[in-house]
Amino acid sequence: MKLIVLLCALVALSESLRIPLIKGKTARENLREQGRWEQYRLNHPYSPITKFSQSGAESMTNDADLSYYGVISIGTPGQSFQVIFDSGSSNLWVPSVSCSSSACQNHNKFNPQASSTFQSTNQALSIQYGTGSMTGYLGYDNVQVGGITVQNQIFGLSQTEAPFMANMVADGILGLAYQSIASDDATPVFDNMMSQGLVSQDVFSVYLSSNGQQGSVVLFGEIDSSYYTGNINWIPLSSETYYQVTMDSVTINGQTVACSGGCQAIIDTGTSLIVGPTSDINNINSWTGATIDQYGDATVSCSNVQSMPSVTFTLNGYTFTIPASSYVTQDSYGCRTGFSGSGDSLWILGDVFIRNYYTIFNRSSNSVGLAQIA
Ligand SMILES: *[C@@H]1O[C@H](CO)[C@@H](O)[C@H](O)[C@H]1NC(C)=O
Repeated sequence: MKLIVLLCALVALSESLRIPLIKGKTARENLREQGRWEQYRLNHPYSPITKFSQSGAESMTNDADLSYYGVISIGTPGQSFQVIFDSGSSNLWVPSVSCSSSACQNHNKFNPQASSTFQSTNQALSIQYGTGSMTGYLGYDNVQVGGITVQNQIFGLSQTEAPFMANMVADGILGLAYQSIASDDATPVFDNMMSQGLVSQDVFSVYLSSNGQQGSVVLFGEIDSSYYTGNINWIPLSSETYYQVTMDSVTINGQTVACSGGCQAIIDTGTSLIVGPTSDINNINSWTGATIDQYGDATVSCSNVQSMPSVTFTLNGYTFTIPASSYVTQDSYGCRTGFSGSGDSLWILGDVFIRNYYTIFNRSSNSVGLAQIA
């Protein structure tokens, strides 16, 4: 009897650490429906590196292709929010009822007065990003992630938000990277999960489904072997800030096409594409036959996808190969590759990469594990 109760408790615990992610509408899709996409993109070119290149400010994005969201709740009783589980930033923030920006009109807003456990601070929070800024303040409250409750979590409450957020489904962002890059040195949610003993192992893992709205997941404290086949290949972090690793090379048909002599790459669930230095990305895109259109998209002919080469990324001596069927996105407007250039030397391995590999963020060894999805 006792054993059964214990087993039930263990099952309940492991179930509760599994957060389903919805693959929802992107900002690009929302803007297209309103006939505003082209003008928007011309005015605000994609700036994926902005998120990583600011000092002292919380990272933000104008990524129009982000599509994975999960639900958390904050306060007592809980108030629900859809957030991006972002391994490329470290703060949690959501809109607040004192935000009057247009972006706050179509999103859930936290009402501190409606939570009996909320504790305010007079510490300001400011987020700069490519398309504007977010400002707000910091508070503490209980945060429910799945069935588990993180006590006394510090988080940002926005008071102004740049217009771009109005086009996103997500209300806010839940950063999963290290405290060393957190704005205001705020303790990240996963650090509290570890220190409050809410996870049995200091790992979280992400599976992003390529098909359909359902099936994607973030798992806290566990690795689920049903998501992958073969070995988990561990790559040590080169910097404990983001999940940053050394990449050895990028090859096509065995030939080095980018990252010659090595480069630095960040494994980022909060960036949709694979981003690298413009000249390297141009080289990869030319192998696929892509042309860069006036909006910055690397467009290809949909009928050529079958003959486009796979692209191989080598990390810590292990090879990770992305086939064209995975790096090309097709919608009613045509096909484009998931490779985007930036003026920085840093690479970002975003969702286009992560969809191919079950990704384990191991905080006890400061490494990232990648395994071929099942
Ligand atoms: C984390 O990494 C260490 C060292 O590589 C490994 O021993 C440990 O099993 C990993 N944790 C999990 C949960 O896999």
